[in-house]
Amino acid sequence: MSKCLICENEYLPFVDFGDMPIANAFAIKEEMDDEYTFPMKVGFCDGCNMVQLAEQPDREKMFHENYAFFSSTSNYMVEHFKNFAHSVSDLQSLDSESLVVEIGCNDGIMLQNFLKDKIPCLGVEPSKNVANAAAGKGIEVINQFFDQPLAKKITISHKKADAILSANVMCHIPYMHSIYDGVKTLLKHDGIFVFEDPYLGEIIEKTSFDQIYDEHVFLFSALSVGYLANMHDLELVNVEPQITHGGSMRYTIAHKGAKTVSQDVINLIDKEKSLGLNSANAYSGFADNVNKIRDDLIMLLKKLKSEGKKVVAYGATSKSTTVTNYFGITPDLVECIYDTTPIKQNKLSPGAHIPVLPYEQFRESNPDYVLLFAWNHSAEIMKKEQDFMTNGRHWITYIPKVEVS
Ligand code: SAH
Ligand code: TYD
Repeated sequence: MSKCLICENEYLPFVDFGDMPIANAFAIKEEMDDEYTFPMKVGFCDGCNMVQLAEQPDREKMFHENYAFFSSTSNYMVEHFKNFAHSVSDLQSLDSESLVVEIGCNDGIMLQNFLKDKIPCLGVEPSKNVANAAAGKGIEVINQFFDQPLAKKITISHKKADAILSANVMCHIPYMHSIYDGVKTLLKHDGIFVFEDPYLGEIIEKTSFDQIYDEHVFLFSALSVGYLANMHDLELVNVEPQITHGGSMRYTIAHKGAKTVSQDVINLIDKEKSLGLNSANAYSGFADNVNKIRDDLIMLLKKLKSEGKKVVAYGATSKSTTVTNYFGITPDLVECIYDTTPIKQNKLSPGAHIPVLPYEQFRESNPDYVLLFAWNHSAEIMKKEQDFMTNGRHWITYIPKVEVS
């Protein structure tokens, strides 16, 4: 049995991926001798409806000065965060007297928009290399982990925030109570805390199991986020589905009673209940669905190998660490991964040790099949490569099922 990080109830994991490395620990061969792994299991707590990792590595093992994920590698995401920032600005009528705080600002992909509009903003980002990238854009950044004590300090060094924002960060943090206490401390009475993360409903529906890796300690739903907010005298007041990261949800939280709860929150909670996301039954078939994808993909890759086809992968995502390690995909099945992120290039992928090569070499490698690890960016990538992916070249995708196109 495992103990829930939110309500301390005991629960049983519903899927066990075995030992997994750190998803973003791309490294050269010499550094791979002593690769760290942790047992990766996911469970559902029926006390508070939270889906969560039973164990997570120490945060310093994941977020540090060599963090490999730079947000601005996708043009689509640059546009997405511009729209996100503008929608919050409009909603809260932000101006030069306001303060926006972003938890996990990474390379400044969101805050650069507030800076441009002369709205005071502050990033909190523990990974020094990406924090430096944001600072290089002129954004004020505190290079620390956000928690309640830091929130208190910000109210003194700066002031209370009109908006606290976060994207793809909340689900990374196990100590949610300190985060919500921090939000309670830092947020103005009529302020809003808006965050988005991969959505549990989509993950279950699509079997997008690769959203599960060391950093993603929680898979949120409106049910679990509402429960958590309520524990801290806060309230879930709005939800907006997003297409990013294969299906995300944007949650808006306010001080209890300060804003009207939207009909969308009520509708989504009803929908989640009708899908049974508040009951262990909803999760019982998940492991079998993952194993079906595994068996189909491995069979396909082995067949292509026996036919002498050249198979490479596209996008050295964190998600691919779960795919390669759980499925047992090694360089004899997939030769290499092409990626645009300099810090990942000419390194080996965590655990599976597939070479990651600069994107610039992708076309000259002349592959027959390209396994799309960055499937969440498929619209952007397939458009970019449409003139190249002709003449008998094929994409392989595997969410929600294995397909060759
Ligand atoms: N918001 C960006 C980055 C997401 S990656 C985007 O959506 O693209 C997750 C980021 O959260 C990393 O940059 C990591 O360093 C940061 N992070 C992890 N724990 C954190 C914490 N406790 N407080 C603030 N940031 C944190
Ligand atoms: P992403 O799927 O956003 O993240 P995660 O690590 O959360 O699973 O990662 C996208 C990766 O794909 C990133 O390493 C950059 C790479 N990439 C390309 O190589 N080319 C592209 O056109 C895009 C959009 C991404």
